Amino acid sequence: MKLLVTGGCGFIGSNFVRYVLKERPEWEVVNLDKLTYAGNLANLRDVEIHPRYKFVQGDIADAGLVEELFAQEQPDVVVNFAAESHVDRSILDSTPFIETNVKGVQVLLEAARKYRVERFLQISTDEVYGSLGEEGYFSEEAPLRPNSPYAASKAAADLLCRAYYKAYGVPVVITRSSNNYGPYQFPEKLIPLMIRNALLGKELPVYGEGKQVRDWLFVEDNCRAIALVLEKGRTGEIYNIGGGCEKRNLEVVHSICRIVADVVRKPVEVILSLVKFIPDPRGSAHDFRYALDCSKIKYELGWQPSVDFEKGLRSTVDWYLRNQEWVESIITGEYYEFYRKVYGTSVSH
Ligand code: NAD
Ligand code: TYD
Repeated sequence: MKLLVTGGCGFIGSNFVRYVLKERPEWEVVNLDKLTYAGNLANLRDVEIHPRYKFVQGDIADAGLVEELFAQEQPDVVVNFAAESHVDRSILDSTPFIETNVKGVQVLLEAARKYRVERFLQISTDEVYGSLGEEGYFSEEAPLRPNSPYAASKAAADLLCRAYYKAYGVPVVITRSSNNYGPYQFPEKLIPLMIRNALLGKELPVYGEGKQVRDWLFVEDNCRAIALVLEKGRTGEIYNIGGGCEKRNLEVVHSICRIVADVVRKPVEVILSLVKFIPDPRGSAHDFRYALDCSKIKYELGWQPSVDFEKGLRSTVDWYLRNQEWVESIITGEYYEFYRKVYGTSVSH
């Protein structure tokens, strides 16, 4: 089976490509990636010359390029990871989010329709459901109530997928996962940002009081679920993928401080003193809590998360410690500019 994976040079995409090449010896991967600030060839350096892997640089919103690629490669299935993925950036400027996350998905769906792919897997997010209070879980039936431009663009893409399934019979399936963490995540998201800053002795900027709740999923558990949905998920269906591991942001930051202190052999108080509460840059677009009801994927496909949070977090800290060169090599001046825009003068840069 030939997979067209888009956004394979990003965090989850690169983990997925590596997972598939290892775990599915009969699958081939063509990876289409624009290489934005979040996409890096270094993320897949170890499989660059793998006989079942091919990289193509390009934009999913470029209809001419996508058409040519489908004609040339004739993929059996599409797995679309390509996206602008950071909420804070979407609040600063939603334009690239609409371009890639909405227009790009429409371009891919058109090509999938024309070339009659066997399956189109759209990688979506729990953020399309909006925010929960202290109680309750979102099932796949929950209404879409996105609160950030990022979430709105992903919800729009999900609705386009639904419409292409209904109107043209494109064999679409959607996964909506909770917050992922693990190796190769760009250090703009909570966990890798805090790990990098803690290792460098920089301030740890917690939005508001750090009381928001996220459900953490180790990236490899997500990759396993995605491969399973690709093989066995029912066409036209949506599958939630959650870690079953809800934590308040401050709890996560404290765990990172403890692990980093242990790893670098510094007193934990020294690392904890780096925590800095800052005015919430997301304002009322900041979702309080995400939590997923994952009974559908559990009972239909037999999937459940396997990596315990403390163990996953420790292995992630170890990975960032061993790969500090990778982290610094993917950061450019653009990162510091972004950092200044989001964090203002509240924290040192
Ligand atoms: P990421 O930002 O790390 O990677 C995105 C990748 O897409 C990069 O390699 C980038 O170069 C590529 N890309 C961006 N625009 C492109 C375009 N126009 N054409 C081609 N490639 C383009 O993102 P991620 O965290 O790996 O997320 C992957 C997918 O999973 C996204 O669709 C995201 O919405 C979804 N998701 C992520 C999380 C999470 O916790 N990270 C949770 C749920 C869902
Ligand atoms: P993030 O990793 O950006 O994921 P998402 O917003 O998509 O869930 O943020 C996770 C949580 O951590 C979110 O509630 C915002 C918070 N946060 C901070 O407190 N400080 C930070 O520097 C970042 C990046 C996030």
